[in-house]
Amino acid sequence: MNLAVKLPRGLVLKNPVVAASGTFGFGPEYRDLVNIGRLGGVSVKGVSPDPWPGNPPPRVWETPGGLLNSIGLQNHGVEAFCTHDLPYLRETGTAVIVNIIGHTVDEYRRVAERISEEPGVSALEVNISCPNIKHGGISFGHDPDQAYLVTEAVRNATDLPVMVKLSPNVPNPGMIAQAVEGAGADMISAINTLVGLAVDKHRRRPALGGITGGLSGPAVKPVALRVVYEVAQQVKIPIIGMGGITTASDVVEFLMVGAQAVMVGTVTFQYPQRMEEIIEALPDELLSWGFATLDEAVGSALPHKKEGLPHESP
Ligand SMILES: Cc1cc2nc3c(=O)[nH]c(=O)nc-3n(C[C@H](O)[C@H](O)[C@H](O)COP(=O)(O)O)c2cc1C
Repeated sequence: MNLAVKLPRGLVLKNPVVAASGTFGFGPEYRDLVNIGRLGGVSVKGVSPDPWPGNPPPRVWETPGGLLNSIGLQNHGVEAFCTHDLPYLRETGTAVIVNIIGHTVDEYRRVAERISEEPGVSALEVNISCPNIKHGGISFGHDPDQAYLVTEAVRNATDLPVMVKLSPNVPNPGMIAQAVEGAGADMISAINTLVGLAVDKHRRRPALGGITGGLSGPAVKPVALRVVYEVAQQVKIPIIGMGGITTASDVVEFLMVGAQAVMVGTVTFQYPQRMEEIIEALPDELLSWGFATLDEAVGSALPHKKEGLPHESP
C-alpha cells in the first residue's frame, strides 16, 4: 500500500508517521536505536533565536497513562542548530520539520528567516504555546489575534511550508485554527500537551521544578481526537494529528477524524522502535478497518467527509 502523504507547497512525507517535537531530540540522539530514514519525518525540539536554559529539575514525572514534562523548551539556539544538528538531519532521508519558538513575534520571524537560508529543511512547525513576554506572559496560542500575528510574520519570512501547532488548553481550538489559516498557515498540527500538576509526597510540594507541566501520552488521546475532529470541520488546510498515539490502530483513528498524518511522541521514550513498528503495521491495520488506501480513511468519521482530499500543492 502506498503510504505517501502529499501536503501543501510540495511537502511529501514517505509515510504519515512523524516523530513529535521535543520527544526525539534533534535526531542524532536516536541514531543507534531508530532507522530515521524509515520515518515519515522528524519534528525537532523547539528552536529559539538564542539559547534557552529551560526549567529547573525535576523536569519529567510519570502519571497514570501519561507523562508530565516541564522541560521549558531548553535548546541551544538557531545558530547551534544550523551548525551542529541540521547537517546530520538533512542526510537522514526523512522530512525535516523545524519546530520554532520565540517570546515575541519578532523572535519567531528571526528563527524562520534564519532556518529558511539553510538547505534540507522540509517545513516549519510554529509552536505557539510559548509565553508572549510583551503581553504579560499569555501564550500566543491562547489568543486568536496573537496567533494570527505570529503566523503572518512567519509566513512573510519563509517560502517553506508552515504548520502551526495548536494548544489544547483553550476553550475553542477551532477559533485559533481559523485565525492561523487566515494568516497563511499551510497546515495545522495538534495537539500540544495539556497543562497539569503532580504532587511529590516525600518533598510535600509540586513534583516538577516548573510547578506545572505538560501532560502527554495515552491519557490525552481522547482530548487530541476531539480537537482534531473539531478543527477538521472548521478549517480547509490539512491537519497533522497527535497525542497519545502508541499503535497503528491509534493512527487510523486520527486519520478518521480528519488528520492526514500523525506525530508520535511519548511512547518513543519507552519503545524507541515503535514508530517503525507502526509504519510496518499500518497497511494491514487500514485493511482491517475496511480501508483500501490511506486517503479513504482520512476524514471518514467526520459528519461530512472533507472534499478535495488529499491536498495537492498549489
Ligand atoms: C518531553 C517533551 C518535550 C516536548 N517538547 C516540545 C517542543 O519543544 N515543542 C513542541 O511543539 N511540542 C513539544 N512537546 C509536545 C509533543 O510534541 C506532543 O505534542 C505531545 O507530547 C503529544 O504527543 P504524545 O502524547 O505522542 O507525546 C513535548 C513533549 C514532551 C513529552
